[in-house]
Amino acid sequence: MGRIAVLKGGNSLERQVSLRSAARVEDALERLGHEVVPVDVGADLVERLTSERPDAAFIVLHGVGGEDGTVQELLEILGIPYTGSGVLACMRSMDKVLTKHLLLEAGVPTPEFFAVGETAFKRLGAAGVLPAMEERLDFPIVVKPAAQGSALGIKFARTAADVPGALVAAFSYDTRVLLERYVRGRDLAVSVLEGAALPVVEAVPQEEHFYDFESRYEIGRTRFVCPAELPEPITARAQALAVATYELLGCDGVARVDIMLEDATSELFVLEANVIPGMTDTSLLPQAAEAAGIAFEALVERMLELAFERDAGRATV
Ligand SMILES: Nc1ncnc2c1ncn2[C@@H]1O[C@H](COP(=O)(O)OP(=O)(O)O)[C@@H](O)[C@H]1O
Ligand SMILES: [Mg+2]
Repeated sequence: MGRIAVLKGGNSLERQVSLRSAARVEDALERLGHEVVPVDVGADLVERLTSERPDAAFIVLHGVGGEDGTVQELLEILGIPYTGSGVLACMRSMDKVLTKHLLLEAGVPTPEFFAVGETAFKRLGAAGVLPAMEERLDFPIVVKPAAQGSALGIKFARTAADVPGALVAAFSYDTRVLLERYVRGRDLAVSVLEGAALPVVEAVPQEEHFYDFESRYEIGRTRFVCPAELPEPITARAQALAVATYELLGCDGVARVDIMLEDATSELFVLEANVIPGMTDTSLLPQAAEAAGIAFEALVERMLELAFERDAGRATV
């Protein structure tokens, strides 16, 4: 049994979700007989890790700082094994624009999109290409920051008049913004554990048209169906696309891939991948694992074992 540092909190916008995920993970680790060292990630992170000398780090951080490779990079330098994906996969999945280019390159369907940086607007007159983008994508258009998660900063522009406001909102979260074709359809999530897909989860919003940051984490405002009620070929294809995404991003351990199933065509489109999926009691990875017969504790234990296995594998290279 090891001494496990649970890295949580941080100052990202998803701090509260992280703390809730971490509480469950800490509980599970203790029940499994590990010694838990809770670490609220901040300016003293390196100092804490250096003095506590944990055997491994269980990362339960979401968003910028935790999911983008920053913390992973420090753990590499300190030689501490850690759960989940390595630095490169974190960088690839945190940046939705990069993810989408990699998906396109690999032939994995993703909604048509354009990406623009703040400097293109400020210095290159990018506003001049908005009409061309709007024509290509057709309304409604989804406007979202390249980085971030949990639906923060995502807006749906119904007409050209909505676009400037949506851009301003998205640019308040990141310097690069994505304009994406709106896929009318069902919201699916496929978690991948050790390279194998778990049962598909469907998120069914109960009130709003689109489930926003609040409803996602408030019990009762989104209904989750797992396994999703889908024709078998669609389930199989969603799982294959999720595994392909996990592999092309170079993920390790776990990832959750968000996919839209288009009503009109029954086509699937990959939106993004999350390398540090939520672990709260309404989160999708634990639900999917449960549906596959993997209880929360077993999931946590396996994620930890994989961290040690990767570390051991590296030592022999
Ligand atoms: N192109 C799109 N078409 C339809 N719905 C979308 C589209 N992009 C995002 N959404 C909706 O917004 C949610 C969040 O978008 P996503 O790209 O997964 O970003 P994040 O989860 O990082 O906030 C999706 O689960 C989906 O419900
Ligand atoms: Mg998502």
